[in-house]
Amino acid sequence: MPKNDNYPASLVDSFGRKVDYIRLSITDRCDFRCVYCMSEDMQFLPRDEVLTLEECSRLVKAFVSLGVKKVRITGGEPLVRKDALWLFNEIGHLSGLNELVITTNGSQLEHQAQALKQAGVRRINISLDSLDAARFRKITRVGNLDKVLRGIAAAKQAGFEKIKLNTLLMRGVNDDEALPLVAFAIAQGIDISFIEEMPLGLVHHTRNSTYVSNEDTLKLLRARYDLIGSVENTGGPARYWRVPNTDTKVGFISPHSHNFCESCNRVRITSKGELYLCLGQENKVDLMPLLREYPRDDKPLIEAIIGSMNIKPKGHDFDLKRAAPAVIRFMSHTGG
Ligand code: 5AD
Ligand code: SF4
Repeated sequence: MPKNDNYPASLVDSFGRKVDYIRLSITDRCDFRCVYCMSEDMQFLPRDEVLTLEECSRLVKAFVSLGVKKVRITGGEPLVRKDALWLFNEIGHLSGLNELVITTNGSQLEHQAQALKQAGVRRINISLDSLDAARFRKITRVGNLDKVLRGIAAAKQAGFEKIKLNTLLMRGVNDDEALPLVAFAIAQGIDISFIEEMPLGLVHHTRNSTYVSNEDTLKLLRARYDLIGSVENTGGPARYWRVPNTDTKVGFISPHSHNFCESCNRVRITSKGELYLCLGQENKVDLMPLLREYPRDDKPLIEAIIGSMNIKPKGHDFDLKRAAPAVIRFMSHTGG
């Protein structure tokens, strides 16, 4: 995209926060049906309501021209999208883009890890909630643990800078696996983060009774490991601890705490091209009409992105005790 001096070199919202990180969902589809994420009979979007990969590429380039330095590709499961690798190759080596990363369930990595690395993906997050095959199947409803473990091995083989497991613990389901999963991460020489469940989407699953706080998980892990606090700040809801004498960091992603909103540096784009300014709020701008009405003119798109900074909310408002989910959007729409 030609550089236009009329546009700012960076995106700054009305609270002075610089936005230099986008998370783009390239599909709402997934080959798993995790109980906390999807209903069993999930309805997916018709094809023409989903951004084409060319449109995804155009969007990423527009954001990078506005100073975005980090792009995370998410889903649904991004790697079930046909030709997803085309997109990674298209954007992987953009000048100005420092970090291209992906969040995946690992099911396709066995065959795609190497190509992703070559396309320029530097870091990879792989969801893993259990090391027990039957339990893994129960949580994902259809997933195959062995395939994911082979995917993790392929990712290690491909030599990513960092591989991180993402684990969501549910009381009475897999909350006895915090220690085994950390031991697995240590043995693999990779990182692991525990994510607190967020009230997103109408899933048939009672969150109040399964919710496990990161405070409890941290307490449990500290009884076993001398975790060393890290000052690393991601501008997001994650806090990290190092496990001494290992290559492993343990992270805690606590979306219910509010203290990170003030340093929020990110926005999200759904596979329908909706630009959401906050994970927990409804403020959004529809970018798809601009992409489709002006196929060869990026000006309206760029101006809409710059304008969206005025409606980025100060913070979110999740409350587990509320009967209805705070936000009806599914994670698989907005991207994890
Ligand atoms: N709350 C928290 N995390 C969620 N994920 C999916 N749904 C939710 C939810 N309601 C996470 C998965 C996966 C990532 C892509 O999103 O655990 O690691
Ligand atoms: Fe798919 Fe990830 Fe949702 Fe599971 S949590 S159904 S793997 S998108």
